[in-house]
Amino acid sequence: MTATATDIPLLSIKAQNAALAEELKAAACRVLDSGAFILGPENKGFDAEFAAATGAKHALGVDSGTSALELALEAAGVGPGDEVIVPAFTFVATATAASVLGARPVFADVDPETLTLDPRSAERLITAKTKAIVPVHLFGHPADMDALGALAQARGITIVEDCAQSHLARYKGRPVGGFGAAAAYSFYPTKNLGAAGDAGALTTDSAEMRDRLLVLRNCGRSLGAAYQYERVGHNCRLDEIQAAILRVKLKHLPRWNDARRRVAALYREGLKGVPGLTLPPSGEGGTQPVFHLFTVRSSRRDALAEHLKSRGVGCGVYYPSPLHLSAAYASLGGRAGDCPESERACREVLSLPMFAELPDDAVARVIDAVRAFR
Ligand SMILES: Cc1ncc(COP(=O)(O)O)c(C=O)c1O
Repeated sequence: MTATATDIPLLSIKAQNAALAEELKAAACRVLDSGAFILGPENKGFDAEFAAATGAKHALGVDSGTSALELALEAAGVGPGDEVIVPAFTFVATATAASVLGARPVFADVDPETLTLDPRSAERLITAKTKAIVPVHLFGHPADMDALGALAQARGITIVEDCAQSHLARYKGRPVGGFGAAAAYSFYPTKNLGAAGDAGALTTDSAEMRDRLLVLRNCGRSLGAAYQYERVGHNCRLDEIQAAILRVKLKHLPRWNDARRRVAALYREGLKGVPGLTLPPSGEGGTQPVFHLFTVRSSRRDALAEHLKSRGVGCGVYYPSPLHLSAAYASLGGRAGDCPESERACREVLSLPMFAELPDDAVARVIDAVRAFR
């Protein structure tokens, strides 16, 4: 069967943007009319509102999640000669943030159930050069912050959380993003909170860290003195138009996350007991994932993906190759077998359609399609 016009996309922001179209246009026009395009009132408003939403003391917008990770590590003092432990199974920006600072990313394995950084693997890789650990709350599921926090604290290692896929998720009752020196967020358009282009943010509970990040974000300029440069910085500012768009969308984020959890619950119920299929963890004991993606596992992943696509069901592989085996990091000498769970995940994962506006009948079609796979 070939795919039809009634295809179910893996991700879609169409319905979300259509529902808010008038408000989003008004927000963009407000900025155009104001003529205040750089670090103006929309940034100020967004920073305060995002801090309140995430439970952080401070938030600051930046131009992408990648920049957020880079600035957080730089502000934490990461530089040449340092090692930064990151999961082998994540988006590449988690690791390149260390590389661009001249530090070496050290790839740890992931827990087979949550697909987040395995504290035991991280512990084995700690050396005298380890400066930071970057847990990723992958697919919206919180990493094991109790174990990772204990590990880091005992050795004076900085934690920077990669919250690019986990806006407002909770770990044992506490919001993610509050377990380290800083947290990095992405607002890539299809994220749980997405801008109309590239955007990101940092959160921290430390006023000192916030000030360092503010300086680094804005060309190294001293706070309150536009043409005094206190260190070599970057231009990673968040556009006012993106800040205005994000302010409109942020109000809806808790509801959208609830809707994602509802879709996840429907999948869980409908896919229970399917032979050979492993479902993602639902979260317990106050741990609340936000299902940026709903990622199942199958040892026959490629055949399942073909089957779903032939029935008009969108699906995707996040991620097909572990970072220690990617060409970008060949010089680090990673070998097959170094991170077996990450390698297995890359062979088995398949993400099913997931977005807040996914209708129940579409979820039912996805479930039927998966169940029909032989
Ligand atoms: C886990 C993770 N970290 C970092 C990033 C980088 O964010 P951005 O694309 O906004 O630079 C992403 C975005 O895809 C991500 O998924």
